[in-house]
Amino acid sequence: MCNTRDMREACEICPLSAADIPALCALAREIWRAHYPGIISVAQIEYMLAERYDEAVICDELGRRDLWWDVLMLSGQMMGYASYFLTGVVGEMKIDKLYLHPRAQRQGHGGKVIDHVAAFAAQAGCKRLTLAVNRHNQSAIAAYHKHGFYIAETSLREIGGGFLMDDYIMVKAVNA
Ligand SMILES: CC(C)(COP(=O)(O)OP(=O)(O)OC[C@H]1O[C@@H](n2cnc3c(N)ncnc32)[C@H](O)[C@@H]1OP(=O)(O)O)[C@@H](O)C(=O)NCCC(=O)NCCS
Repeated sequence: MCNTRDMREACEICPLSAADIPALCALAREIWRAHYPGIISVAQIEYMLAERYDEAVICDELGRRDLWWDVLMLSGQMMGYASYFLTGVVGEMKIDKLYLHPRAQRQGHGGKVIDHVAAFAAQAGCKRLTLAVNRHNQSAIAAYHKHGFYIAETSLREIGGGFLMDDYIMVKAVNA
């Protein structure tokens, strides 16, 4: 567990527990419905929420040994989450999800979560962190640039339901 405390509110990054999966799924719906209109269609938002934030899917992921889920707690309230996994490419960890409630954005919390994941990846012997971010998600791309990622390539792929993911793949070196 990584604990940090600033002048304003207690901030904790801790592993997601099975009991908190329903709260995480509710938080994801709130964040996605606030953030993604204008970046992807409402139909795609609902499709991806149903696919990715299904309680049984996340419960299965918690049982994996190559994938981790954390939550960001601010003053005891769940305000964000991240998941990351070993890609199978030697030395590579991928941040699969990183989402903060709008009220928690742009206060350095995302950077703390990235630092936490980077430290974990380094301890696991990884040399690089990767992630995929929608090419129109400008605020997130700016945040990733600020926290040491660079754009390595573009990626356009079908995700079912007639929807596409139009992403940048971003990479950050991590130090063992
Ligand atoms: C992307 C995200 C995780 C970054 O975390 P964060 O805590 O907001 O970012 P930090 O405070 O660590 O870094 C701040 C930087 O992020 C960028 N940023 C974050 N929110 C922004 C916003 N609303 N508008 C513009 N830039 C923004 C800026 O570069 C900012 O730096 P600046 O304040 O010096 O201009 C968070 O904003 C978020 O959850 N966004 C919505 C969901 C999302 O898009 N997730 C990523 C999916 S791949």
